[in-house]
Amino acid sequence: MSYRGNRRRGLAATLAMATVAATLLGAAVHRPPAHRPPAHVDNPFAGASFYVNPDYARLVEGSAARTADPALRARMRAVKRHPTAVWLDRIGAVHGGAAAGGRKSLAQHLDLALARKKPGRPVVATFVVYDLPGRDCAAQASSGELPLTRAGLERYRTEYIDAIAEVLARPKYRGVRVATVIEPDGLPNLVTNLSDPECAQAQSSGIQVEAIRYALDKLHAIPNVYTYLDFAHSGWLGWDSNLTQTVRLYTDVVEGTASGLASVDGLVTNVSNYTPLAEPFLTDPDRVVGEGPVKSSAFYGWNGHFDEADFTRSVHRELVAQGWPASTGMVVDTSRNGWGGPARPTAESTSTSLDAYVDESRADRRPRRALWCNVAGAGLGEPPRAVPAGYPDSHLDAFLWVKPPGESDGAGDDIPNGEGKRPDPMCDPVTTPGALPGAPLAGHWFHEQFSMLVTNAYPPVS
Ligand code: BGC
Repeated sequence: MSYRGNRRRGLAATLAMATVAATLLGAAVHRPPAHRPPAHVDNPFAGASFYVNPDYARLVEGSAARTADPALRARMRAVKRHPTAVWLDRIGAVHGGAAAGGRKSLAQHLDLALARKKPGRPVVATFVVYDLPGRDCAAQASSGELPLTRAGLERYRTEYIDAIAEVLARPKYRGVRVATVIEPDGLPNLVTNLSDPECAQAQSSGIQVEAIRYALDKLHAIPNVYTYLDFAHSGWLGWDSNLTQTVRLYTDVVEGTASGLASVDGLVTNVSNYTPLAEPFLTDPDRVVGEGPVKSSAFYGWNGHFDEADFTRSVHRELVAQGWPASTGMVVDTSRNGWGGPARPTAESTSTSLDAYVDESRADRRPRRALWCNVAGAGLGEPPRAVPAGYPDSHLDAFLWVKPPGESDGAGDDIPNGEGKRPDPMCDPVTTPGALPGAPLAGHWFHEQFSMLVTNAYPPVS
């Protein structure tokens, strides 16, 4: 981002003066290239190879090994090549091992990223910072380990963010571009879910805003670390009033950090959600069909943003209108928003009744847009890549698979656990038709879901 670039230029100028002074004094100036601070680029994904998490590949292989159909098995194995984000979803995840379900530590991931780095090509690894005190205030599935108290905030700072920052700041990792996705659902819950007592408390206490500011301050201070704030998705914040109000909250929050708006490199939408990137047959929300404009249908409920391509464009425009630099990048989580398979419409509906027209035309096959837990019928979306073509006004830095496809969104059943996770009615197919049955706890491997996602991938896995 431009602000940050200025700060770096200032540093470079200081170093140049120091070098001249040292030379004049006759001192030997020796700065090996590996120790030179890397430039903080505008888009960390551009030109970089993406780190592939072997823990994820192992889970995928487990599903492939138990799949009888050879064609599906081969497609599953192809998914192993795709990069996914690593979720630091508890303090133990930073350190890896038994406290993290046997997964790798943050340092082990970075060692591997370095080991696999190709000469002359940057490598980027993505980590999700997800341990807010009072996490998931509007739902139950991903309640976390830290309570919404001052003591919880203190642990978040010292045992979680400081531990992450200590690893990321190690000089040996300077050659890795680290993209961080910061606190999915955290700030959006403080805009639209204040009728929920836990979210109201999260907002009035100021604890979550303090936590996010602390995370930004610590992470932004490390030059090779990039910060992307979660910004929900079009089905949540797409109403114009929500969108403007939410950008206002983000602006306030980020202006309250040590470096102001320069602390943030971009925003990421659709994390762990199913909202399509594009609705190819529903391109004009104001078009009148039958009873009224398309956006007034039951499915869209007057929300004029039907997909993430339109949403990211509007969010970026609003950010700039509220003073953010135009270089702020957008990222979309395309892990599970493909909606391929037999139910995908192949043509625009010819119905003259509004709801029938919308329901027959939309790629998003959810019964309701509000469904977010292990949604039946979903498929893998666009493979992760930098600077995806075709969406110029959306200012996309990348498509990422932030949610590792096959990891559950949550359980409907009461499964005892030490992670703070609770049964969630949105994950229970009896109370919420459209959620897959038999789901394990959030973050745990869900073979049947993974099979479905690969089967319904759009574009198909090749
Ligand atoms: C869970 C996390 C998990 C993440 C990625 C979240 O819903 O709460 O524990 O790491 O999903 O699967």
